[in-house]
Amino acid sequence: MLDCVASVRMASAEEIPENGMKGFTVEKTRVLIAKVNGEYYAIGAICTHLGGLLDNGKLDGNVVTCPLHGSRFDVTNGSVVRQPAKVAVRAYKVTRQGDSLLVEM
Ligand code: FES
Repeated sequence: MLDCVASVRMASAEEIPENGMKGFTVEKTRVLIAKVNGEYYAIGAICTHLGGLLDNGKLDGNVVTCPLHGSRFDVTNGSVVRQPAKVAVRAYKVTRQGDSLLVEM
């Protein structure tokens, strides 16, 4: 089976401040884009524990904390840093083209 990958323009770079993050919805998929040390990262924004919205949480360095029960995820790769979540969120590739941030969906 082939994966279908499409780059979607999700934001302008200036929408994401350094050490900040913002959530976007594209065709029913919620994605969080964060900027850490000048690099942009995108992960699924729905917590794998019980569905908390990670973009409503707190970003500290490269780690976002879920606002519901405190699970922590690494925004650079989606991995779980602290439970109760046990499953990583999806990580997406982000590229910058001019002022646009493109996310491979
Ligand atoms: S919903 Fe995110 S930690 Fe429970």
